[in-house]
Amino acid sequence: MKRLIIGITGATGTIYGWRLMEMLRSEGDTEIHLVMSPSAKLTLKMEHDVELDYIYSLAHEVHQPGNIGASISSGSFATEGMIIAPCSIKTMSNIAFGNTGDLMSRAADVVLKEGRKLVVAIRETPLHAGHLESLTKLARLGVVIFPPVPAFYNRPKTLLDIVDQSCMRMLDQFDIHVETAPRWGEEGGVPAVGQKIEGGKIAGE
Ligand SMILES: Cc1cc2nc3c(=O)[nH]c(=O)nc-3n(C[C@H](O)[C@H](O)[C@H](O)COP(=O)(O)O)c2cc1C
Repeated sequence: MKRLIIGITGATGTIYGWRLMEMLRSEGDTEIHLVMSPSAKLTLKMEHDVELDYIYSLAHEVHQPGNIGASISSGSFATEGMIIAPCSIKTMSNIAFGNTGDLMSRAADVVLKEGRKLVVAIRETPLHAGHLESLTKLARLGVVIFPPVPAFYNRPKTLLDIVDQSCMRMLDQFDIHVETAPRWGEEGGVPAVGQKIEGGKIAGE
């Protein structure tokens, strides 16, 4: 079984984190380690009526953000890597500058030092030069900078369609392929390059 760490921070869009876990559960082949910051719990409350217990139930193991002695704070605990979704500017900056005083940034730093994959779904707009410098630093270290920017070519109809497309693409980074959104050029998916759209439909249909 693969092991993946899911981090949820206090940026808006906590749904990205728990939707990722729902997808991993449906795929069923990944052990999920969750770390959720205190701010994430506050943001979650503001954004959704979902109970924290439900979010916790999606993970195989929940690690408290202050528990710096958790398994995921050591490189000897093998994982595929970590997705932080959504990722706040605070946590992104902590990782960029090696401020590893909480489990979120420590686990991310461990993933990096071990040469594993780190995906950060950074959520802020607009971005100032300081943000961009930190993000550049992380990109140079091999971090996948993944702002959850919606695609429209797949004709999303609901907010969940938009969330699911981003989450699917984040999991693609780990070779975990869930089909929660149409993929470009695939049957039943979005029109392939060259197909014409007329009046909101594929020409000839
Ligand atoms: C409702 C709400 C929405 C927020 N949205 C963002 C955001 O999109 N991006 C961001 O960087 N911070 C956002 N914040 C601020 C973070 O929660 C705050 O900077 C916090 O210290 C982040 O800590 P963490 O990274 O440990 O979760 C938001 C806060 C609240 C209450």
